[in-house]
Amino acid sequence: MKVAALGYVRLQVRDLEEWRKFGEEVLGFAAATADDGSVRLKMDAAPFRYLIEQGDADRFTASGWECRSEADYERFLIVLDSAGALVGEGGAPEAEARRTARVAFATDPSGNAFELCWSRAADSPFTSPIAGLEFITDPMGLGHVVLPAPEFAATVAFYQDLLGFRLSDDLTLPPPAAGAPEQRLNFLHADNPRHHSLGLYNYPAPNGIVHIMAEANSLDSVGLCLDRVKAAELPVVASLGRHFNDSMVSFYFLAPGGIPMEFGYDGQQYDWTNFEPTQGAVADLWGHEYNFPS
Ligand SMILES: [Fe+2]
Repeated sequence: MKVAALGYVRLQVRDLEEWRKFGEEVLGFAAATADDGSVRLKMDAAPFRYLIEQGDADRFTASGWECRSEADYERFLIVLDSAGALVGEGGAPEAEARRTARVAFATDPSGNAFELCWSRAADSPFTSPIAGLEFITDPMGLGHVVLPAPEFAATVAFYQDLLGFRLSDDLTLPPPAAGAPEQRLNFLHADNPRHHSLGLYNYPAPNGIVHIMAEANSLDSVGLCLDRVKAAELPVVASLGRHFNDSMVSFYFLAPGGIPMEFGYDGQQYDWTNFEPTQGAVADLWGHEYNFPS
């Protein structure tokens, strides 16, 4: 029993209108404001992929994981409950707000809130406000999230043992500063061909997220987004480069409120039969000169 895909993410931001404008004009998503005032960003036929709510700080609030069936959803609830990780199941209003039939709330051992849902109906077709831009999504979900996991071993085990994620790549990088522990990243796949739907990083992240990744349909779409990011004067925190593990060509930048994002193309897709997880000590084939705020 495995989680199917990353269905949606939730953010809280101080300036909803700024995020709405950014979503449309920089990312090329389609934005809508719901009756409750939240902004929904759509990047494919799913009802929305980013649920953005008003808050007093800019932060990532939850990953929304989709289950393959209602039976899986119910079994996950039992497993999470017995592990003491289940916060509870949402009612009809919470499910409706996510355009899903059922939703439940839980927390991982590093304190990352997440949600499980079943099922999300496809909605209207997606047309980007940016001509020619499309995103690589279903059946692989919206992309990936990399979450802070200071309780690293327990958090990796949690996603593997309870939710059925499997290891794709175990990456060790030098310490970020002299005397600090080495950096460790585990990249986990869900039940779909994307190399990783979830990354876990052994350091904290001030706004609750290491980065969110969106994958576009061409290299030109990545270059054009880089131009839009620069025109919007958003900080680019990693130059264009290609990752070793998923072969993604991407760059990283800070969205409004300092939310780190990766925008990429050309991520490799996998048939997981007979796959052996890789171990690495180098993140990139070329490029990706990192300049994240410490
Ligand atoms: Fe990434």
